[in-house]
Amino acid sequence: MLFLGTRQMHLVVRPLSTVKTSLFYSTSSHVPARAMVYAQYGKPSEVLRVHKHALPDIKPQDVHIRFLAAPINPADCNQVEGVYPIKPPFNTSLGSDEPVAVGGNEGVAEVIALGDQVKGFNVGDKVVMAQAGRGTWRTHAALPASEVQLLPGFNNQVSLVHAATLTVNPSTAYRMLNDFVELKEGDYVIQNGANSAVGQFVIQIAHAWGLKTINVVRDRPNLDELKEYLTSLGATHILTEEELSKRETRSKLKGWLDGRKLRLALNCVGGKNATELGRYLDHEGKHVTYGAMSKQPMAVPAAPLIFKDVSYHGFWVSRWTDTHSRQEREAMFGDLIDLIKQGKLREPVWEKVSWKLNASEQEIETAFKEAVDKGITGFGKGKQIVFFED
Ligand SMILES: NC(=O)c1ccc[n+]([C@@H]2O[C@H](COP(=O)([O-])OP(=O)(O)OC[C@H]3O[C@@H](n4cnc5c(N)ncnc54)[C@H](OP(=O)(O)O)[C@@H]3O)[C@@H](O)[C@H]2O)c1
Repeated sequence: MLFLGTRQMHLVVRPLSTVKTSLFYSTSSHVPARAMVYAQYGKPSEVLRVHKHALPDIKPQDVHIRFLAAPINPADCNQVEGVYPIKPPFNTSLGSDEPVAVGGNEGVAEVIALGDQVKGFNVGDKVVMAQAGRGTWRTHAALPASEVQLLPGFNNQVSLVHAATLTVNPSTAYRMLNDFVELKEGDYVIQNGANSAVGQFVIQIAHAWGLKTINVVRDRPNLDELKEYLTSLGATHILTEEELSKRETRSKLKGWLDGRKLRLALNCVGGKNATELGRYLDHEGKHVTYGAMSKQPMAVPAAPLIFKDVSYHGFWVSRWTDTHSRQEREAMFGDLIDLIKQGKLREPVWEKVSWKLNASEQEIETAFKEAVDKGITGFGKGKQIVFFED
Protein backbone atom coordinates (compact mmCIF):
# COMPACT_ATOMS: atom_id res chain seq x y z
CA MET A 1 0.00 0.00 0.00
CA LEU A 2 1.18 3.50 -0.74
CA PHE A 3 1.55 5.93 2.17
CA LEU A 4 0.56 9.09 0.41
CA GLY A 5 -2.09 10.97 2.33
CA THR A 6 -5.25 10.65 4.38
CA ARG A 7 -7.62 10.43 1.46
CA GLN A 8 -5.62 7.84 -0.48
CA MET A 9 -6.51 4.69 1.31
CA HIS A 10 -6.98 1.05 0.58
CA LEU A 11 -10.73 0.70 0.11
CA VAL A 12 -12.34 -2.60 0.85
CA VAL A 13 -15.93 -3.02 -0.29
CA ARG A 14 -17.97 -4.17 2.70
CA PRO A 15 -21.18 -3.00 4.37
CA LEU A 16 -20.74 0.27 6.19
CA SER A 17 -23.89 0.09 8.27
CA THR A 18 -22.13 -0.35 11.63
CA VAL A 19 -19.78 2.60 11.59
CA LYS A 20 -20.15 6.30 10.97
CA THR A 21 -17.31 7.45 8.83
CA SER A 22 -15.99 10.32 6.81
CA LEU A 23 -16.12 10.20 3.04
CA PHE A 24 -14.20 7.27 1.47
CA TYR A 25 -13.74 5.53 4.81
CA SER A 26 -14.52 1.87 5.43
CA THR A 27 -14.18 -0.42 8.45
CA SER A 28 -10.96 -1.80 7.01
CA SER A 29 -9.68 1.24 5.19
CA HIS A 30 -6.21 0.87 6.74
CA VAL A 31 -5.57 4.58 6.85
CA PRO A 32 -1.85 5.13 6.38
CA ALA A 33 -0.47 6.74 9.51
CA ARG A 34 2.85 7.93 10.85
CA ALA A 35 3.97 8.65 14.38
CA MET A 36 7.01 10.25 16.00
CA VAL A 37 8.18 7.51 18.35
CA TYR A 38 11.07 6.66 20.66
CA ALA A 39 12.30 3.24 21.74
CA GLN A 40 14.52 4.44 24.57
CA TYR A 41 14.87 7.59 26.66
CA GLY A 42 17.40 10.17 25.57
CA LYS A 43 17.93 13.53 23.90
CA PRO A 44 14.78 14.01 21.80
CA SER A 45 16.66 14.95 18.63
CA GLU A 46 18.66 11.72 18.94
CA VAL A 47 16.05 9.14 19.91
CA LEU A 48 12.94 10.28 18.00
CA ARG A 49 12.14 8.62 14.71
CA VAL A 50 9.16 8.28 12.37
CA HIS A 51 7.24 5.01 12.48
CA LYS A 52 4.93 4.14 9.60
CA HIS A 53 1.86 1.98 10.18
CA ALA A 54 -1.81 1.64 9.26
CA LEU A 55 -4.81 2.30 11.46
CA PRO A 56 -6.49 -0.97 12.46
CA ASP A 57 -10.10 -1.87 11.70
CA ILE A 58 -12.30 0.25 13.91
CA LYS A 59 -13.55 -1.32 17.16
CA PRO A 60 -17.09 -0.67 18.47
CA GLN A 61 -16.00 1.72 21.26
CA ASP A 62 -13.18 3.41 19.38
CA VAL A 63 -12.79 6.56 17.38
CA HIS A 64 -10.30 7.13 14.61
CA ILE A 65 -8.87 10.61 14.62
CA ARG A 66 -6.66 12.63 12.32
CA PHE A 67 -4.37 15.12 14.06
CA LEU A 68 -4.42 18.69 12.76
CA ALA A 69 -1.86 20.41 14.99
CA ALA A 70 0.21 19.62 18.07
CA PRO A 71 2.74 21.69 20.01
CA ILE A 72 6.17 20.72 21.27
CA ASN A 73 6.07 21.66 24.96
CA PRO A 74 9.03 21.48 27.39
CA ALA A 75 7.30 18.65 29.29
CA ASP A 76 7.02 16.60 26.07
CA CYS A 77 10.79 16.76 25.72
CA ASN A 78 11.29 15.86 29.39
CA GLN A 79 9.06 12.86 28.77
CA VAL A 80 11.24 11.64 25.89
CA GLU A 81 14.29 12.19 28.12
CA GLY A 82 12.67 9.92 30.72
CA VAL A 83 12.68 12.62 33.41
CA TYR A 84 8.94 13.35 33.50
CA PRO A 85 6.52 11.60 35.87
CA ILE A 86 4.23 10.48 33.03
CA LYS A 87 5.97 7.61 31.23
CA PRO A 88 3.87 6.24 28.37
CA PRO A 89 4.47 2.48 28.11
CA PHE A 90 6.74 1.15 25.36
CA ASN A 91 4.84 -1.41 23.28
CA THR A 92 4.45 -2.83 19.78
CA SER A 93 0.77 -1.92 19.36
CA LEU A 94 1.61 0.15 16.26
CA GLY A 95 3.33 -2.85 14.65
CA SER A 96 6.90 -1.69 15.27
CA ASP A 97 9.72 -4.24 15.48
CA GLU A 98 10.72 -3.00 18.93
CA PRO A 99 8.54 -1.54 21.71
CA VAL A 100 8.04 2.22 21.22
CA ALA A 101 6.11 5.11 22.75
CA VAL A 102 4.58 8.00 20.79
CA GLY A 103 5.70 11.50 21.80
CA GLY A 104 3.52 14.53 22.56
CA ASN A 105 0.82 15.18 25.14
CA GLU A 106 -1.58 17.65 23.60
CA GLY A 107 -2.96 18.59 20.22
CA VAL A 108 -6.19 18.97 18.30
CA ALA A 109 -7.57 16.26 16.07
CA GLU A 110 -10.61 15.65 13.89
CA VAL A 111 -12.81 12.58 14.29
CA ILE A 112 -12.73 10.63 11.01
CA ALA A 113 -14.60 7.47 12.04
CA LEU A 114 -16.68 6.17 14.94
CA GLY A 115 -17.27 2.64 16.22
CA ASP A 116 -20.94 1.64 16.36
CA GLN A 117 -21.16 1.90 20.17
CA VAL A 118 -19.71 5.41 20.36
CA LYS A 119 -22.07 8.10 21.55
CA GLY A 120 -21.66 11.86 21.89
CA PHE A 121 -19.30 12.36 18.95
CA ASN A 122 -19.78 12.99 15.25
CA VAL A 123 -17.44 12.59 12.32
CA GLY A 124 -15.82 15.99 11.80
CA ASP A 125 -15.81 16.93 15.52
CA LYS A 126 -12.63 18.55 16.78
CA VAL A 127 -11.30 16.83 19.87
CA VAL A 128 -8.44 17.03 22.36
CA MET A 129 -6.96 14.29 24.53
CA ALA A 130 -8.84 13.53 27.74
CA GLN A 131 -5.53 12.90 29.55
CA ALA A 132 -1.83 13.44 29.05
CA GLY A 133 0.57 10.75 27.89
CA ARG A 134 -1.45 9.34 25.00
CA GLY A 135 0.85 10.51 22.17
CA THR A 136 -0.10 13.41 19.90
CA TRP A 137 2.90 13.65 17.58
CA ARG A 138 1.25 11.51 14.97
CA THR A 139 -0.91 11.88 11.90
CA HIS A 140 -3.68 9.53 13.08
CA ALA A 141 -4.73 7.47 16.07
CA ALA A 142 -7.23 4.74 16.86
CA LEU A 143 -8.29 4.92 20.48
CA PRO A 144 -11.26 4.49 22.84
CA ALA A 145 -13.71 7.38 22.57
CA SER A 146 -13.30 7.88 26.33
CA GLU A 147 -9.73 9.07 25.66
CA VAL A 148 -10.82 12.13 23.70
CA GLN A 149 -12.88 15.16 24.65
CA LEU A 150 -14.85 17.76 22.71
CA LEU A 151 -14.00 21.44 22.85
CA PRO A 152 -17.23 23.21 23.86
CA GLY A 153 -18.07 26.14 21.63
CA PHE A 154 -15.29 25.38 19.17
CA ASN A 155 -15.89 27.09 15.84
CA ASN A 156 -13.93 28.97 13.19
CA GLN A 157 -13.34 31.88 15.60
CA VAL A 158 -10.96 29.55 17.44
CA SER A 159 -7.69 28.95 15.59
CA LEU A 160 -6.00 25.58 15.32
CA VAL A 161 -3.10 26.99 17.35
CA HIS A 162 -5.47 27.89 20.19
CA ALA A 163 -7.21 24.52 20.01
CA ALA A 164 -3.95 22.55 19.85
CA THR A 165 -2.53 24.31 22.90
CA LEU A 166 -5.62 24.80 25.06
CA THR A 167 -5.28 21.84 27.43
CA VAL A 168 -1.88 22.65 28.92
CA ASN A 169 -0.78 26.28 29.01
CA PRO A 170 -3.99 28.37 29.13
CA SER A 171 -5.53 25.74 31.42
CA THR A 172 -2.54 25.96 33.78
CA ALA A 173 -2.72 29.75 33.85
CA TYR A 174 -6.50 29.65 34.43
CA ARG A 175 -6.26 27.18 37.32
CA MET A 176 -3.40 28.93 39.07
CA LEU A 177 -5.19 32.28 38.97
CA ASN A 178 -8.43 30.69 40.13
CA ASP A 179 -7.62 27.96 42.64
CA PHE A 180 -5.07 29.22 45.17
CA VAL A 181 -6.05 32.69 46.33
CA GLU A 182 -9.37 34.48 46.13
CA LEU A 183 -8.42 37.48 44.03
CA LYS A 184 -10.53 40.60 43.61
CA GLU A 185 -10.53 43.07 40.77
CA GLY A 186 -7.42 45.25 41.01
CA ASP A 187 -5.40 42.65 42.97
CA TYR A 188 -1.85 41.90 41.88
CA VAL A 189 -0.11 38.66 40.91
CA ILE A 190 3.66 38.33 40.45
CA GLN A 191 5.21 35.78 38.09
CA ASN A 192 8.59 34.85 36.61
CA GLY A 193 9.09 33.29 33.17
CA ALA A 194 6.46 35.84 32.16
CA ASN A 195 7.20 35.45 28.45
CA SER A 196 6.68 31.67 28.53
CA ALA A 197 3.50 30.43 26.88
CA VAL A 198 1.97 29.91 30.34
CA GLY A 199 3.16 33.37 31.41
CA GLN A 200 1.54 34.99 28.38
CA PHE A 201 -1.77 33.37 29.32
CA VAL A 202 -1.40 34.41 32.96
CA ILE A 203 -1.05 38.01 31.74
CA GLN A 204 -4.06 37.80 29.42
CA ILE A 205 -6.44 35.91 31.71
CA ALA A 206 -5.50 38.17 34.63
CA HIS A 207 -6.12 41.22 32.45
CA ALA A 208 -9.50 39.83 31.30
CA TRP A 209 -10.47 39.24 34.93
CA GLY A 210 -9.45 42.75 36.03
CA LEU A 211 -6.27 41.61 37.84
CA LYS A 212 -2.85 43.26 37.58
CA THR A 213 0.44 41.49 36.94
CA ILE A 214 4.08 42.08 37.84
CA ASN A 215 6.07 40.14 35.27
CA VAL A 216 9.67 39.01 35.59
CA VAL A 217 11.69 38.06 32.50
CA ARG A 218 15.36 37.42 31.75
CA ASP A 219 17.33 40.34 30.36
CA ARG A 220 18.12 40.15 26.62
CA PRO A 221 19.29 42.42 23.80
CA ASN A 222 15.73 43.02 22.55
CA LEU A 223 14.22 43.57 26.02
CA ASP A 224 12.26 46.66 24.91
CA GLU A 225 10.60 44.67 22.15
CA LEU A 226 9.62 41.95 24.62
CA LYS A 227 8.30 44.53 27.10
CA GLU A 228 6.24 46.13 24.37
CA TYR A 229 4.78 42.76 23.42
CA LEU A 230 3.91 41.72 26.98
CA THR A 231 2.40 45.15 27.61
CA SER A 232 0.24 44.70 24.51
CA LEU A 233 -1.07 41.47 26.10
CA GLY A 234 -2.06 43.40 29.22
CA ALA A 235 1.04 43.13 31.46
CA THR A 236 0.91 45.85 34.13
CA HIS A 237 4.61 45.98 35.08
CA ILE A 238 7.70 44.20 33.75
CA LEU A 239 11.00 43.66 35.56
CA THR A 240 14.15 41.76 34.66
CA GLU A 241 15.47 39.05 37.02
CA GLU A 242 18.34 41.38 37.99
CA GLU A 243 15.94 44.23 38.79
CA LEU A 244 13.84 41.94 40.97
CA SER A 245 16.74 41.25 43.30
CA LYS A 246 17.72 44.93 43.71
CA ARG A 247 16.90 46.65 47.01
CA GLU A 248 15.27 49.67 45.35
CA THR A 249 12.73 47.38 43.67
CA ARG A 250 11.06 46.92 47.06
CA SER A 251 9.99 50.57 47.25
CA LYS A 252 9.06 50.56 43.55
CA LEU A 253 6.74 47.59 44.15
CA LYS A 254 5.26 49.23 47.24
CA GLY A 255 4.34 52.20 45.08
CA TRP A 256 2.76 49.99 42.42
CA LEU A 257 0.75 48.01 44.97
CA ASP A 258 -0.48 51.21 46.62
CA GLY A 259 -1.70 49.47 49.75
CA ARG A 260 -2.92 46.28 48.07
CA LYS A 261 -1.55 42.98 49.30
CA LEU A 262 0.48 40.74 46.99
CA ARG A 263 -0.79 37.25 47.75
CA LEU A 264 0.01 35.11 44.69
CA ALA A 265 3.38 34.35 43.09
CA LEU A 266 3.70 31.99 40.12
CA ASN A 267 7.05 30.32 39.59
CA CYS A 268 8.02 28.94 36.17
CA VAL A 269 11.78 29.14 36.63
CA GLY A 270 13.07 27.99 40.06
CA GLY A 271 16.48 28.89 41.50
CA LYS A 272 17.36 32.25 43.04
CA ASN A 273 14.66 34.06 41.15
CA ALA A 274 11.92 31.88 42.62
CA THR A 275 13.27 32.61 46.10
CA GLU A 276 13.08 36.34 45.36
CA LEU A 277 9.41 36.08 44.36
CA GLY A 278 8.62 34.64 47.80
CA ARG A 279 10.16 37.64 49.56
CA TYR A 280 7.61 39.99 47.97
CA LEU A 281 4.55 38.06 49.12
CA ASP A 282 2.36 39.50 51.84
CA HIS A 283 0.83 37.75 54.86
CA GLU A 284 -0.59 34.31 53.99
CA GLY A 285 0.57 34.74 50.40
CA LYS A 286 0.92 31.64 48.24
CA HIS A 287 3.95 30.77 46.15
CA VAL A 288 3.00 28.31 43.42
CA THR A 289 5.64 26.43 41.46
CA TYR A 290 4.61 24.95 38.11
CA GLY A 291 7.89 24.87 36.16
CA ALA A 292 11.62 24.54 36.75
CA MET A 293 13.08 26.02 33.58
CA SER A 294 16.41 27.01 35.17
CA LYS A 295 16.80 23.44 36.52
CA GLN A 296 18.05 25.07 39.75
CA PRO A 297 16.70 24.19 43.21
CA MET A 298 14.84 26.91 45.07
CA ALA A 299 15.79 28.01 48.59
CA VAL A 300 12.86 28.80 50.86
CA PRO A 301 13.77 31.76 53.09
CA ALA A 302 12.78 31.45 56.75
CA ALA A 303 11.50 34.99 57.30
CA PRO A 304 8.40 34.88 55.01
CA LEU A 305 7.53 31.47 56.48
CA ILE A 306 7.85 32.54 60.09
CA PHE A 307 6.65 36.11 60.03
CA LYS A 308 4.13 36.11 57.17
CA ASP A 309 2.98 32.48 57.06
CA VAL A 310 3.70 32.43 53.32
CA SER A 311 3.05 28.92 51.99
CA TYR A 312 4.68 27.08 49.11
CA HIS A 313 2.65 24.97 46.70
CA GLY A 314 3.00 23.07 43.44
CA PHE A 315 0.59 22.87 40.53
CA TRP A 316 0.46 20.23 37.83
CA VAL A 317 -2.34 20.42 35.27
CA SER A 318 -2.17 16.65 34.61
CA ARG A 319 -2.91 16.01 38.28
CA TRP A 320 -5.76 18.51 38.15
CA THR A 321 -7.19 16.70 35.11
CA ASP A 322 -6.92 13.32 36.84
CA THR A 323 -8.63 14.57 39.98
CA HIS A 324 -11.46 16.57 38.40
CA SER A 325 -14.43 15.57 36.30
CA ARG A 326 -14.70 15.81 32.54
CA GLN A 327 -17.51 18.36 33.13
CA GLU A 328 -15.23 20.60 35.23
CA ARG A 329 -12.59 20.45 32.50
CA GLU A 330 -15.21 21.23 29.88
CA ALA A 331 -16.43 24.22 31.91
CA MET A 332 -12.87 25.57 32.01
CA PHE A 333 -12.42 24.99 28.27
CA GLY A 334 -15.75 26.77 27.70
CA ASP A 335 -14.53 29.83 29.68
CA LEU A 336 -11.22 29.89 27.81
CA ILE A 337 -12.93 29.54 24.43
CA ASP A 338 -15.27 32.40 25.33
CA LEU A 339 -12.24 34.59 26.10
CA ILE A 340 -10.68 33.58 22.78
CA LYS A 341 -13.87 34.48 20.90
CA GLN A 342 -14.01 37.83 22.68
CA GLY A 343 -10.48 38.50 21.43
CA LYS A 344 -9.12 38.54 24.99
CA LEU A 345 -6.71 35.64 24.55
CA ARG A 346 -4.16 35.83 21.78
CA GLU A 347 -2.25 32.83 20.56
CA PRO A 348 1.14 32.39 22.22
CA VAL A 349 4.07 33.44 20.07
CA TRP A 350 4.69 30.39 17.88
CA GLU A 351 6.59 29.03 14.91
CA LYS A 352 5.16 26.60 12.41
CA VAL A 353 6.64 23.16 11.89
CA SER A 354 5.17 21.55 8.79
CA TRP A 355 4.57 17.78 8.77
CA LYS A 356 3.38 17.14 5.21
CA LEU A 357 1.47 13.90 4.97
CA ASN A 358 3.27 12.99 1.75
CA ALA A 359 6.79 14.03 2.86
CA SER A 360 9.51 11.43 3.26
CA GLU A 361 10.38 10.07 6.72
CA GLN A 362 13.73 11.82 6.43
CA GLU A 363 12.12 15.21 5.71
CA ILE A 364 9.69 14.86 8.61
CA GLU A 365 12.40 13.78 11.03
CA THR A 366 14.75 16.60 10.05
CA ALA A 367 12.11 19.32 10.48
CA PHE A 368 10.81 17.83 13.70
CA LYS A 369 14.19 17.38 15.36
CA GLU A 370 15.18 20.94 14.47
CA ALA A 371 11.95 22.13 16.11
CA VAL A 372 12.53 20.02 19.23
CA ASP A 373 16.01 21.49 19.65
CA LYS A 374 14.61 25.02 19.24
CA GLY A 375 11.88 24.26 21.76
CA ILE A 376 14.37 23.39 24.50
CA THR A 377 16.85 26.19 23.86
CA GLY A 378 16.38 29.36 25.93
CA PHE A 379 15.60 32.76 24.35
CA GLY A 380 13.58 30.98 21.67
CA LYS A 381 11.32 32.52 19.03
CA GLY A 382 8.18 30.93 20.42
CA LYS A 383 6.27 27.71 20.77
CA GLN A 384 7.01 25.16 18.06
CA ILE A 385 3.69 23.93 16.64
CA VAL A 386 3.48 21.00 14.26
CA PHE A 387 0.83 21.20 11.54
CA PHE A 388 -0.15 17.92 9.88
CA GLU A 389 -0.90 19.00 6.33
CA ASP A 390 -1.98 17.44 3.04
N1 LIG B 1 2.88 22.27 36.06
C1 LIG B 1 2.10 22.33 35.00
O1 LIG B 1 0.95 21.91 34.98
C2 LIG B 1 2.66 22.96 33.77
C3 LIG B 1 1.85 23.27 32.68
C4 LIG B 1 2.40 23.91 31.57
C5 LIG B 1 3.75 24.19 31.57
N2 LIG B 1 4.52 23.82 32.63
C6 LIG B 1 5.95 24.13 32.71
O2 LIG B 1 6.07 25.51 32.61
C7 LIG B 1 7.30 25.83 32.02
C8 LIG B 1 7.04 26.75 30.82
O3 LIG B 1 6.31 26.04 29.85
P1 LIG B 1 5.87 26.76 28.50
O4 LIG B 1 5.24 25.78 27.61
O5 LIG B 1 5.14 27.99 28.85
O6 LIG B 1 7.32 27.11 27.96
P2 LIG B 1 7.83 27.99 26.76
O7 LIG B 1 6.75 28.76 26.12
O8 LIG B 1 8.71 27.11 25.95
O9 LIG B 1 8.74 29.05 27.54
C9 LIG B 1 9.87 28.68 28.25
C10 LIG B 1 10.17 29.78 29.25
O10 LIG B 1 11.24 29.38 30.08
C11 LIG B 1 12.22 30.43 30.11
N3 LIG B 1 13.54 29.83 30.29
C12 LIG B 1 14.13 28.91 29.50
N4 LIG B 1 15.32 28.57 30.03
C13 LIG B 1 15.46 29.30 31.17
C14 LIG B 1 16.47 29.42 32.16
N5 LIG B 1 17.58 28.69 32.11
N6 LIG B 1 16.27 30.29 33.19
C15 LIG B 1 15.17 31.02 33.26
N7 LIG B 1 14.15 30.96 32.35
C16 LIG B 1 14.32 30.11 31.32
C17 LIG B 1 12.07 31.10 28.77
O11 LIG B 1 12.56 32.40 28.86
P3 LIG B 1 13.65 32.99 27.84
O12 LIG B 1 12.85 33.63 26.74
O13 LIG B 1 14.36 33.95 28.69
O14 LIG B 1 14.49 31.84 27.35
C18 LIG B 1 10.55 31.11 28.63
O15 LIG B 1 9.99 32.14 29.40
C19 LIG B 1 7.95 24.50 31.66
O16 LIG B 1 8.80 24.12 32.74
C20 LIG B 1 6.77 23.57 31.59
O17 LIG B 1 7.12 22.21 31.78
C21 LIG B 1 4.00 23.23 33.71
